Amino acid sequence: MTDTAPEQTTYSPHIIDGKAFAANLRQRVADMVPPFVGALGRAPGLAVVLVGDDPASNVYVRSKHKACVAAGMESFEHRLPAATSEQDLLALIEILNADEQVDGILVQLPLPDHLDDKAVIAAIDPAKDVDGFHIINAGKLAVGESAMVPCTPLGSLMLLKDTYRAKTGGDLSGLHAIVVGRSNIVGKPMAQLLLNENCTVTIAHSRTRNLPDLVKTADIVVAAVGRTEMVKGAWLKSGAVVIDVGINRLPPEPGADKGRLVGDVATKEALASDILAITPVPGGVGPMTIACLLRNTLVAAHRRTGLADPVGV
Ligand code: GUN
Repeated sequence: MTDTAPEQTTYSPHIIDGKAFAANLRQRVADMVPPFVGALGRAPGLAVVLVGDDPASNVYVRSKHKACVAAGMESFEHRLPAATSEQDLLALIEILNADEQVDGILVQLPLPDHLDDKAVIAAIDPAKDVDGFHIINAGKLAVGESAMVPCTPLGSLMLLKDTYRAKTGGDLSGLHAIVVGRSNIVGKPMAQLLLNENCTVTIAHSRTRNLPDLVKTADIVVAAVGRTEMVKGAWLKSGAVVIDVGINRLPPEPGADKGRLVGDVATKEALASDILAITPVPGGVGPMTIACLLRNTLVAAHRRTGLADPVGV
C-alpha cells in the first residue's frame, strides 16, 4: 500500500533577498544611463516634490535623491512649506510637466490636509507619472496596456517572478494569488499585475469573511494591510510564496529609542511552516520600491523621447 501513497513535498522556506535584488536592479538601471546620455545629451531626470516637513517623508525623499544621483540620473528636489496653497503646488507641477529635463515627477504623500491629493495627482502628466498613481496609468494597467506601474507592486512582482524562476521559469499562470489589502497604491495595482500574469486573483480586505481559510488556498500571498503580523503562519498553504509589503514599527523596547520594524505577516511562524519562500521585513519589498522608481524614471525618459523601452530592467 505504501508504495502507491502520493509523494509528500516539504519545503525549507527560502528568505527572499530584496536588498540584493534591488541593488542588482539599480545597477542595471545605472548601466543604461550612459547610452541614454549618449543619445540625448542629458541624463534622465526625476523631480521630487515634498510639501511640509513630515520626518518619515523627509527620510524617503532624501533616499530617493541619493539613489537617483548614484544611478547617474538628475535629481530635482522641490521642498515647499507646509502652508503651500494648492494653486501654488499645481503651478509647480505645470512647470515640471513642461520641463524637457524632467522625465519623472513624484509628489511625496501624504500631503498636508488642506491639499487634495487626487487633484494633485491628476495634474501630473501621465507620461511623467513615475508613481503610476494617475487615473490614466491605473486604467491602462487595468486593461493590460503598457502603463507606468506603481513601484511597490512592481517590485513585489519582480521578486515573485524571480522566486518562481527555478520552478516554472518565472511563469505564474494558473496560480491562486491572494492580495490582502485593497489600497490604490499597493493592493489594487498588485491584483491587476497578478491578473495580467494569468493568476487567479482574490482581493481580501477588512470585510472579508473566513480570511484564514481563503489564505490557506493561495499559492501566492501578498500582505499589504499595514497591520502588525496579521497573517499567521498556520494560515499558509504548503509551498506558498509570501510577499510581505507591511512596514510597521513596534513600540520601543525598554532602553531603546526606536521600536523594531515588522511586517503584516508573522514571519517566525511562517518560517516554521512549510512555505516555499517569504520576503523579510526589513530587507524584502522595501528596497525594491526605490529601485523601481529609478527603473520607472528610466522607462519614462525612453518613452517620452521616442526611444525603445530599455530591455532587462
Ligand atoms: N509615500 C509613501 N510611499 C510613497 C510612494 O511610493 N510614492 C509617493 N508619492 N509617496 C509615498
